[in-house]
Amino acid sequence: MQIIRTIKDMQALSRNIRDEHKTIGFVPTMGALHEGHMSLMKRSGDENDFSIVSIFVNPVQFGPNEDFRQYPRDIEGDLNKLSSIKVDIVFFPDDKEMYPDGFSTSVNIGSVGEILCGASRHGHFNGVATVVAKLCNIVMPHNAYFGQKDFQQTVVIKKLIKELNFDIDVIVCPTVREHDGLAMSSRNIYLNHEERKAATVLYRALKLGEDLISSKGLVDALYIKNEMKNLINSGPVSNIDYVEIVTTEHLEKVEKIKSPVAICIAVRIGKTRLIDNIITTGIFPFATDYQT
Ligand code: PAF
Repeated sequence: MQIIRTIKDMQALSRNIRDEHKTIGFVPTMGALHEGHMSLMKRSGDENDFSIVSIFVNPVQFGPNEDFRQYPRDIEGDLNKLSSIKVDIVFFPDDKEMYPDGFSTSVNIGSVGEILCGASRHGHFNGVATVVAKLCNIVMPHNAYFGQKDFQQTVVIKKLIKELNFDIDVIVCPTVREHDGLAMSSRNIYLNHEERKAATVLYRALKLGEDLISSKGLVDALYIKNEMKNLINSGPVSNIDYVEIVTTEHLEKVEKIKSPVAICIAVRIGKTRLIDNIITTGIFPFATDYQT
């Protein structure tokens, strides 16, 4: 496994791989790797000749009052984990390499980045789109792998790739969960014992929403969201940022559920903001309007 620190070296390596007509799979990360990341890397390793992982905590996707400084960093632990699977190259640039003095370009992804998480994290998705565009130009992958846990991010990235004409396939992989349903996230490390127990409410609320739609056939989104909110609010340390039911392609809010939807939630558990989602296909030909 090679560790590359400069853009020039990374581009030269990727060009050589492409010149040999080999495929490149790419997993962009901010490090603090967990089983969710590892599942993306396994898939990238299986499906490509070369698998490249980037580790870069991207400053421009954090707001001024967010956790950029505290974000968990553990490069030694990360490299250890990577050595156990098929990863050929780790691209690990520093801030100055990615954003040299005077850097001022940014990608504006538009309204899809201003709803859901974007409503409370202003500029976050423009920061994500900017760094992913840069990384794609540096790594030049054929396939790029992202986790469904960050569902809005996957919608943003698909839009970026399509609208800026990157010749890259975006592959969204299933959310990896702990034994009790909590979605794997680098931020889970912030939770104390009591908060870790309380954090299962996200998955429980999503499963409730899914059950009301897919088993009970309910279609009234407001009713379903209220049931989910009641469950979350019954928990000891949870504070809802949003509970939304949206279309899977453009994240538009749904009132009557008639086609597959994404149930998306963001909840603060203590000081830690966690997100999760479930996509449900429903039982639409038979869906009813009743509420019990
Ligand atoms: O999901 C993440 O870890 C980050 O948002 C990403 C895609 C690596 C961009 O910094």
